[in-house]
Amino acid sequence: MENRSQWGTRIGFLMAAMGSAIGLGNIWRFPYTAYDNGGGAFFLPYLFALLTAGIPLLIMEYTIGHKFRGSAPRSYSKMSKGLEWIGWWQVAVSFVISAYYPIIIAWAIMYAYFSFGQQWGDDPTSFFVGDYLQLSDPGVFGSLVPSVLFPLLLVWAIVFFTLGRGVRKGIEVANKIFIPALVVLFIIIVIRAITLPGALDGLEAFFEPNWSSIMDGKVWVAAYGQIFFSLSIAFAIMITYSSYLPKKSDITNNAFITGFANSSFELLAGIGVFAALGFMAFQNGVEVNEVASSGVGLAFMVFPEIISQMPASEFFGVLFFLSLVLAGLSSMISISETYVAGLQEKFNISRGTSILIGGGLAAVASLFFATQGGLNLLDTVDHFINNYGVALSGLFEVVAVAWFVKSLRDFQSHADGISDIKLGFWWRFCLGVITPAVLGVMMLQNLKSEIT
Ligand code: PFF
Ligand code: NA
Repeated sequence: MENRSQWGTRIGFLMAAMGSAIGLGNIWRFPYTAYDNGGGAFFLPYLFALLTAGIPLLIMEYTIGHKFRGSAPRSYSKMSKGLEWIGWWQVAVSFVISAYYPIIIAWAIMYAYFSFGQQWGDDPTSFFVGDYLQLSDPGVFGSLVPSVLFPLLLVWAIVFFTLGRGVRKGIEVANKIFIPALVVLFIIIVIRAITLPGALDGLEAFFEPNWSSIMDGKVWVAAYGQIFFSLSIAFAIMITYSSYLPKKSDITNNAFITGFANSSFELLAGIGVFAALGFMAFQNGVEVNEVASSGVGLAFMVFPEIISQMPASEFFGVLFFLSLVLAGLSSMISISETYVAGLQEKFNISRGTSILIGGGLAAVASLFFATQGGLNLLDTVDHFINNYGVALSGLFEVVAVAWFVKSLRDFQSHADGISDIKLGFWWRFCLGVITPAVLGVMMLQNLKSEIT
């Protein structure tokens, strides 16, 4: 029918899929989540979640994209006319993320620059909130902050440029550069971190198993939540990316590779982050649990302090923030591609027009986060996306496929026809029973914690 763009090489697709999966979630979300949910014992529910939900869903999404050869909305509508809305819902969630994700990348760009001379001074927390973000009262948007605005425009320029060059020359090439570079940078950082004084205390805190935690339902929900977010599942991304695969592609195998690569990077990040936290605790004569944190606080408040106390601060500061930039950009590109592809197919417009409309709207929306109230807004939006967006999207998806259109057997034979790894009953059981049950519990639990 149409001349659909394709990945140039298998490794190109894998780099792009890994680029989407490996992101801020690996670096600043996973380490603390594991630490906070049983430390070493967390690996059990985590591995279980990877094998019963993460990889099975990834196989399903790759199959959907590959079989229907369309963006998420089109793929769902080809599966069944009434399901197109699920694709749009997932695209919408991605759109919202793409309005605030670039802000964090912009901050990281500025912090790579601030690393020279440790411009955050002795009190990185008040530097970040007061001097850099000029944070005003909660909820007040205030005026644009130029030091956020300029790097933000740079991020959008990179995203527009990459998407504009198309799947093979843009997305594939960018990821083939970003991901190997990220891995190299990160290995250097981790080696440095584990050889700092106090690093072992940090690692001990990270790996020490609290076995009783695996009896706690919340820990299991946290494990599944981490896996979904981390693998970029249920965001329309993996469906879109796999729609550009050539006919003959071992999708099941690709899903295993993506899943294990993402988890390996996550483990590496956990080691690096906690070794660095151990160093900081050692320097300040406190316990690791007093400095352990995640998210924005970890990256822009705690890490600057750690970097200042390290030998060769400037070098490692640049390395650390640059790795955030690379991890963030490759994920950002994948999120934006979901609506670029979706709009293009829905309205039959050119790729360029679609980038200008979709990307343009997201870029304008991102400006709200570049104002003085930006951080508060980001916290609120991120909370809803994490607690409801992901779980709901995943739930709609598996329930629709497994229970309504009952396509699992169909998809299984599609995947088996082109793969060395054959799917069995276990695959259908994971998707038809385990995943919907876990996601249902996850939704209820999040709602409950909202009320109390
Ligand atoms: N999978 C990415 C990570 O682990 O950081 C995060 C992510 C990217 C989530 C893109 C959602 C998304 F749409
Ligand atoms: Na990830």
